[in-house]
Amino acid sequence: MSEHDKTFMRNFGLLIAGLMVFCVILIIFASKINEQILPTENPERERRIAERVAPVGGVYAGDTGRAALAEQQAQAASSAPTVAFDGSLDGEMIYNTVCMACHTTGAAGAPMLVAEAWTGRMDKGVDGLTASAIAGIQGEAGYMPPRGGRPDLSDEQVQATVEWMLNQL
Ligand code: HEC
Repeated sequence: MSEHDKTFMRNFGLLIAGLMVFCVILIIFASKINEQILPTENPERERRIAERVAPVGGVYAGDTGRAALAEQQAQAASSAPTVAFDGSLDGEMIYNTVCMACHTTGAAGAPMLVAEAWTGRMDKGVDGLTASAIAGIQGEAGYMPPRGGRPDLSDEQVQATVEWMLNQL
């Protein structure tokens, strides 16, 4: 190998080595940059979020918006059951769902469905007893919340339930 070739081989080797070092530096640099870039949001996910909050987050402006709002409110009002159990007057069912918790166990001093527990109360009559069940009653025995804690019970429903209870004595 001539002197000239040796020089060439050495310089070329150095060049290759230099390029390799440069390449490694680029790799490190690129991975550093990659760490700093935030992961891109999934557009599908964003779309679904927007869909979910639309009923609440929708902007209601102007007459169209007002009309849309009014319609929504009317719908909510008509579909919401305003009376418990769809207004059912089934005293037994209401008792078992609402009143039993106290009146079957005697919890909180509630008169149980036995005649002795009601002797002192009977002279109030069905109407009087119904009235105190509607208003709630704080007596010697304990406290009963208005309508047994179910404000959505109608007067008629409470009355039907009291009648059913008295029939069990
Ligand atoms: C949280 C417990 C509780 C629930 C639920 C409850 N009651 Fe009572 N109730 C009582 C207590 C306690 C008394 C007795 C209060 C007193 O006279 O000291 C009572 C008393 C009554 C009386 C007698 C009132 C009077 O004037 O003597 C009636 C009638 C009555 N409840 C009906 C009902 C009906 C109907 C329901 C279901 C819709 C119901 N209660 C649910 C606790 C409850």
